Amino acid sequence: MSSPNRDKDGNPLIQRYTKNDRSNHWVTAICFVLLAVSGLAMFHPATSWLAVFLGGGQWTRILHPFIGLVMFVSFALLVVRFWHHNHIDAADKQWLRQMDDVLNNREDKLPKIGMYNAGQKLLFFVLIASMCGLLLSGIVIWRAYFAFYFPIEVVRFAALLHAFSAFVLICSIIVHIYAAFWVKGSIGAMVRGTVTYGWARKHHPRWFEEVVRKSQD
Ligand code: HEM
Repeated sequence: MSSPNRDKDGNPLIQRYTKNDRSNHWVTAICFVLLAVSGLAMFHPATSWLAVFLGGGQWTRILHPFIGLVMFVSFALLVVRFWHHNHIDAADKQWLRQMDDVLNNREDKLPKIGMYNAGQKLLFFVLIASMCGLLLSGIVIWRAYFAFYFPIEVVRFAALLHAFSAFVLICSIIVHIYAAFWVKGSIGAMVRGTVTYGWARKHHPRWFEEVVRKSQD
């Protein structure tokens, strides 16, 4: 059996995420899947069959907003955890200007990337904006508890904002998942918490140097 700091071939591994980071991330992700499925079930007759995953139409309608609250709280904790890694700096702006090198895997030509690249950081802020849009509009359209406090025009506008924010969130998460599979080894980081030295040096060289420097202090 391999030790937690070595892979099965005995190569050393670097810790990228703690158990708490990973549990927090996967609770958010599971809520997201349940919400996307139940939200689409309520959105259009063509996708209403998806209600089967939450026990039918009534349960879908009851559970969706509560799961939404759980996702918001879980995501808010994730934001607190990762906020300090997502500040946009001069190297990030340069990275965005060199999109051609990014898309053609010419990583050696790019400025040294820290914990996250500029694409991940921008996505982080799009996720925050869409989550806030979903929470605010979701409260206004929650018929059982809040919708009757608001004029019908406000409820109608909130329903539009809710659908728009959900669309942005779903598209962003599709990009997020695509990138997670595209950069081989990333999924392992969020599942096992560790990455190889090679992965860290290739995709996040500035972060790699910081980790190595700290381990030598
Ligand atoms: C459903 C499938 C999902 C998969 C397969 C997935 C995969 C991953 C992976 C592999 C990473 C690590 C990237 C790295 O270390 O470079 C990551 C980070 C992250 N994920 Fe996900 N994720 C999913 C859903 C979500 C959802 C629904 C959210 C929030 C709405 C989310 C928010 C984040 C955040 C905030 C980070 C840290 C990146 C940053 O702070 O910029 N993920 N994810």
